[in-house]
Amino acid sequence: MEIRGARILVAGATGDIGAALAERLAGLGALTVLVGRDPGRLARVRERCGPGPSRTFDAWDLDAAEGTAAWAARELGGLDAAVVCVGVAAFGPVGEIGEAVAEHLMAVNALAPMAILRSASTRVPPGGLLAAVTGTVARSAPAGMADYAAAKAALATWLTAARRELRRTGVGVLEICLPHVESGFAGRAVTGTAPPLPQGIPVAEAVDAIVDGMCADARFVGPGEGAGAVPAMSKRGVS
Ligand SMILES: NC(=O)c1ccc[n+]([C@@H]2O[C@H](COP(=O)([O-])OP(=O)(O)OC[C@H]3O[C@@H](n4cnc5c(N)ncnc54)[C@H](OP(=O)(O)O)[C@@H]3O)[C@@H](O)[C@H]2O)c1
Repeated sequence: MEIRGARILVAGATGDIGAALAERLAGLGALTVLVGRDPGRLARVRERCGPGPSRTFDAWDLDAAEGTAAWAARELGGLDAAVVCVGVAAFGPVGEIGEAVAEHLMAVNALAPMAILRSASTRVPPGGLLAAVTGTVARSAPAGMADYAAAKAALATWLTAARRELRRTGVGVLEICLPHVESGFAGRAVTGTAPPLPQGIPVAEAVDAIVDGMCADARFVGPGEGAGAVPAMSKRGVS
């Protein structure tokens, strides 16, 4: 897709990756609509991206999440893309995580992103894009983070099915399957402590790969070669 002039909703714009992505897209000439939970961070990112709409949301409120794309389209007179960078982790044995945390992880990592993209799917025109960040854990399913990995796997499956469904409409669906990124994300887990993790890629490198993937109309950003490939990883290509 052409970034310059595109009306792009970034949900999770208050996070490290979402903020850096929003700034990059704005720098490339996109009209950004920003959504995040923390009002102070949201205001600062808005300032760095230039004038435009922004509003807060909590992933627990699925109706609000679902209403985000309609609001964004109203604010900008249409919507060309939605990119969801919302997420939270939890670490611990499956028997100790508990139902409240499990439900929280599913809401933030799967249900809210799906609600935002579900609603965006009826508004984005042919040539537009729906995208969300999953993670390599969706496929590697490491011990000690079963509920986080399961929620990301649910989102990844949803994206695959939505892509098949929307192919005829000309709307692209992009899975952004990131490896560990040095964003401090693991340290913000709702519970537990991350196991020793390999050195992550820098946030800027993740953003490079996301923007490459968006520009190339890729279906997958992650380990691999070519547009959207995350160079530090090389197990799976853009397809
Ligand atoms: N960093 C990694 O190693 C890594 C690897 C693979 C995939 N990912 C994925 O990449 C995405 C961005 O992560 P990041 O590294 O940028 O981490 P981050 O800085 O912690 O960003 C997380 C984002 O999710 C939002 N969020 C969390 N709980 C929420 C809730 N209840 N309601 C609404 N928003 C909520 C945060 O909002 P506030 O800041 O406003 O609270 C923030 O915008 C996530 O989907 C994450 O799962 C990260």
